[in-house]
Amino acid sequence: ETVAWDPEDTGKSGYDHFMLKEIHEQPRALRQCLRGRVDELGGTVSVEELGDLDFDRIHLVAAGTSYHAAVYGAGLLSAEGISAQAHYAHEYASSPPPIEDATVVGVSQSGETADTLAATREARRRGAGTLALTNTVGSTMARECDDAFYIRSGPEIGVAATKTFAGQQTALNLLTQVVADGTPDRDLVSALRDLPGDVQTILDESNAEAVAEAYLDAEAYFFIGRGLNFPVALEGALKMKEISYEHAEGFAAGELKHGPLALVTANTPVFATVVGDGELARKTVGNVKEVEARDAPVVAVTDGRSDADRYADHTLEIPETDPRTAAILANVQLQLASYHTAAKLGRSIDKPRNLAKSVTVE
Ligand code: G6P
Repeated sequence: ETVAWDPEDTGKSGYDHFMLKEIHEQPRALRQCLRGRVDELGGTVSVEELGDLDFDRIHLVAAGTSYHAAVYGAGLLSAEGISAQAHYAHEYASSPPPIEDATVVGVSQSGETADTLAATREARRRGAGTLALTNTVGSTMARECDDAFYIRSGPEIGVAATKTFAGQQTALNLLTQVVADGTPDRDLVSALRDLPGDVQTILDESNAEAVAEAYLDAEAYFFIGRGLNFPVALEGALKMKEISYEHAEGFAAGELKHGPLALVTANTPVFATVVGDGELARKTVGNVKEVEARDAPVVAVTDGRSDADRYADHTLEIPETDPRTAAILANVQLQLASYHTAAKLGRSIDKPRNLAKSVTVE
């Protein structure tokens, strides 16, 4: 008797897909990213690889999921008073903005994406300092840039980026603290210390599979968030469209009323990330009420500190933490929601149609 055996399955450690395995590897990947870089006792952050680049003004360039990390990173840096902008790498390469004295940070899991290499090469050509923020030691980008800052997520096989997005978000928090110069942020240091455990809590307790089951007949899936959760909304939608082939869009919550609200119906679930109980949360709860009034099902991704869950049909809970790490945790819940949607629809999760892990042509 023979048993059908696919050599690829041996790498999945019992998970049905590499994507699910990689989602579950996040606590370990984030621990690796933080190791030796955060000194909990001294409350300091240091990144050896950052050399002597000047970070007064930063342009982050990236594509796909890495672009969403770049938008998140620009938000972190801007909040510290550092001039930072995220650009699509392909746009940056072909229509570059004034570069002045900016340092250009290429954000790329693979370090081989042609669009992103074109952008960092254009930056070098114009005399800018360059940093590769990447997962891949010895990649083209790591070799070509002045310095390389490794996210240490380990190999990612699934085409849809998961643990490397969390790794990029974490590394961008470290970069921000180093660049913000001598002002170690206690709240962040303790939030980063707790981050791998908080991700584990979500992995152990998430009800994302039941949420996915509830909306398999949806016409489209919308994702909203404000501030650091705006790129999380973009990433939530990208993940959903990549692996489920369902129509999904992410919006800045404040933009909803300026057009997208016309698309909202009883058949378009809206995933809203609501963190804390401050101004951003209050405004996003306002958006939740707007979509609820149009009969759209609401899935609140929330730490429970606002009354978002009062208007939600489902809640995907995240542990209470600093707003910066909350955006990492919220994304984990959205990864699981997309994964389970795609799994229930029987999609080719690890190798979605028409997509490649690393796109080496412009
Ligand atoms: C491809 C992948 C995406 C990825 C993007 C950027 O399009 O399918 O998942 O986010 O490339 O890849 P990089 O290696 O530069 O992060």
